[in-house]
Amino acid sequence: MIIHTISELRKIIKDWQKEGLSIGLVPTMGALHDGHKSLIEKSVSMCGKTVVSVFVNPIQFCPGEDLDKYPRTLIQDEILVNKAGGDVIFAPSPAEMYGEGHILSNDFLTYVVPPYFYTDKLCGKSRTGHFDGVCTVVNKLFNIVRPDFAFFGEKDRQQLIIIKKMVKDLNIPVEIVACPIVREKSGLALSSRNKYLNETQKTDALALSKILFNINDCFKKGIKDVNALKETAYGFLNENHDLEYLEFRDADNLEEKTVADLNTVVFIAVKTAGVRLIDNLKLG
Ligand code: PAJ
Repeated sequence: MIIHTISELRKIIKDWQKEGLSIGLVPTMGALHDGHKSLIEKSVSMCGKTVVSVFVNPIQFCPGEDLDKYPRTLIQDEILVNKAGGDVIFAPSPAEMYGEGHILSNDFLTYVVPPYFYTDKLCGKSRTGHFDGVCTVVNKLFNIVRPDFAFFGEKDRQQLIIIKKMVKDLNIPVEIVACPIVREKSGLALSSRNKYLNETQKTDALALSKILFNINDCFKKGIKDVNALKETAYGFLNENHDLEYLEFRDADNLEEKTVADLNTVVFIAVKTAGVRLIDNLKLG
């Protein structure tokens, strides 16, 4: 069932709450794939009812990014949600979420702004304001759905860490459940943006997971120096790859590491033919 308005969704949720059912929320931007499906299945296994939100959130896109061409596939999304056992899709319009004429500048909207220490690095460096947009919409979704549990993928690990921080700092009564990255057999992390890739670009995209897995192999063989581990990446890159970052950071607070340990995450972002891809791996 697809619900487009906040008032309708609230009615349904009230009924569920009366029945004493626990509620899981899986926030997404649609173009659903097996990565999203794993989050929905996890929610279904833990909660009485599962809401999947499908909303391409305009305020988390920076000027010049792919807001207009981001894939919108609601009919197929409904099939996937039903297969995974989800109960309701919440697919509001931008006007429903942000008001008629939805004026989205900071002057006209109350934003939730996570700490600069978490947002001035990795994806936040090239995507100014992105995580303010993410935290604002996720906070709104939490207030609309009032879920007991909310499910986020480790695919976007900086986002996951920032949302955990927001929930802790603002005492939001929801438990965040982290879900592992779903990959193709080739190693490529599933992403809605993989739809933009042709076959050559898809082959180029394999470099990300190859670099991460190779670094992990080296780590397990005893190499702990981050500079030495970084060196191993360059053999996998060619002239099609524009490396945005390759960084080793703490899994809980994103502090930079110079010596890798078991609480280290390797983060990578690469552009190949204009498509920006991200991946990460916790060492060990
Ligand atoms: P979206 O990119 O649609 O992702 C929705 C959720 O699915 C995120 O928690 C993301 O980490 C997870 N996900 C995506 N690919 C995955 C994969 N291969 N394996 C496991 N999980 C995966 O992230 C967003 O949307 C938005 O920023 C959102 C949180 C919905 C706020 O607008």
